[in-house]
Amino acid sequence: MRLHVVTFGCQMSVADGEELASPLKGRGFTAVADAETADAIVLNTCTVRQHAEDKALSLIGRLREWKDRDPQRVLIVAGCAAERLGPWIQKRFPYVDLVVGAKSIEDYPRIVEEALGARFDALAESRLGFGAATEDVEKPTGWASPFSAFVTIMRGCNYSCSYCIVPAVRGRELYRPYETVMAEARAKVALGAKEITLLGQTVNSWNEGGVRFPELLRRMGTIEGLERLRFESPHPHFATDDMIAAMAETPAVCEQLHLPIQSGSDRLLKIMRRNYDAAGILDKTARLRLAIPRVEVSTDIIVGFPSETEEDFERTLDLVRGLRPSWSYTFKYSPREGTESAGMADDVPAEVKDARLERLNALCDGLTEAALAARIGKVVSVLDETGGFGRTRDGFKVSWDGCGTAGRTVKVRVTGMSKRILKGETDERA
Ligand code: 5AD
Ligand code: SF4
Repeated sequence: MRLHVVTFGCQMSVADGEELASPLKGRGFTAVADAETADAIVLNTCTVRQHAEDKALSLIGRLREWKDRDPQRVLIVAGCAAERLGPWIQKRFPYVDLVVGAKSIEDYPRIVEEALGARFDALAESRLGFGAATEDVEKPTGWASPFSAFVTIMRGCNYSCSYCIVPAVRGRELYRPYETVMAEARAKVALGAKEITLLGQTVNSWNEGGVRFPELLRRMGTIEGLERLRFESPHPHFATDDMIAAMAETPAVCEQLHLPIQSGSDRLLKIMRRNYDAAGILDKTARLRLAIPRVEVSTDIIVGFPSETEEDFERTLDLVRGLRPSWSYTFKYSPREGTESAGMADDVPAEVKDARLERLNALCDGLTEAALAARIGKVVSVLDETGGFGRTRDGFKVSWDGCGTAGRTVKVRVTGMSKRILKGETDERA
């Protein structure tokens, strides 16, 4: 039986996709990259912005035909949009076999078995003699290669940023126990992972059994065979001196930090309920760069939040100039029903939002291109994820000619770049 998983959204969602596949794999499904021939599709949705939700809903619509061609096929819709719109999705798309929201992920194996166990039996029966499919799924964005594994350490969010739907669809923070996450990381390293990315909505707020996040980094760093440790997505509030010290002291922790600023206007940061100001961000970055001189920073920014003025927007540009992120993820404000800011007038005209996004992107793209260009002519250390393609510790993608053996860390001389991927060559023999 063939299983196809489609994931929209953040890395957390990508990691959830693996968990959503797991009980089906236990039932004899094999992951395949081709949706057309799949016997089951798990659609893992995102709702953080309207656009992400619309993409998932339109895909559910298009899957009707796939389902009609063979009613034995199973369609599961999961994740954040499923949490927000569950009953509506079931009604609007009656051919969906199971809608299961993001909050139910811990219970998912039981839910799926109860709802679909008999269907899987019947499906297995009818597919007898077809033989097993070969696992040919392409891992999304290259992050979850066998050598680069995720470990989810917390779920949910206790913040209430006024624009954000996440607390509503993922619930309050839930920390996985220290022993559990250490054991999972050790097991993944024993299976060949060289890199671990710790995941959580506000990953660095994790604390459990008297252990706080910085200490977790230090302890994870002692795992034999773990070369690289990353974490996604931190909240600036918990980017403390101790966290910075733990990053600097722990050789496995990569020289990279995501600091989502959202805005550079103190007035807007207040209305967004972000609990920091622009000066605080610059102060933290200065401390970070002092402790880890080669660190690279990335960020998330929203333009066109309700009441954003030209002056507010210019403060955002100023903060970007001060922060100098090597990667920026920029978004037009998208009102989400049920959030605090959805009650505010979405009063920045669409063309102003577009123009601001364009100016912001020009600045951010310039910083990214400069960071990439600064690597040309240098030798960088890359964890080969797929045989000739991988990432530097500080978060740049690299592809190179000549042989490559996935799972090895190689030195690559960067000779150029194309589409934001560094190109290079290596002398090393596989
Ligand atoms: N509109 C636009 N962008 C948003 N984000 C979260 N909610 C919204 C929204 N309503 C962005 C933030 C966050 C990233 C994951 O998505 O920048 O950090
Ligand atoms: Fe959303 Fe804010 Fe929580 Fe991040 S910290 S998930 S932006 S509410």
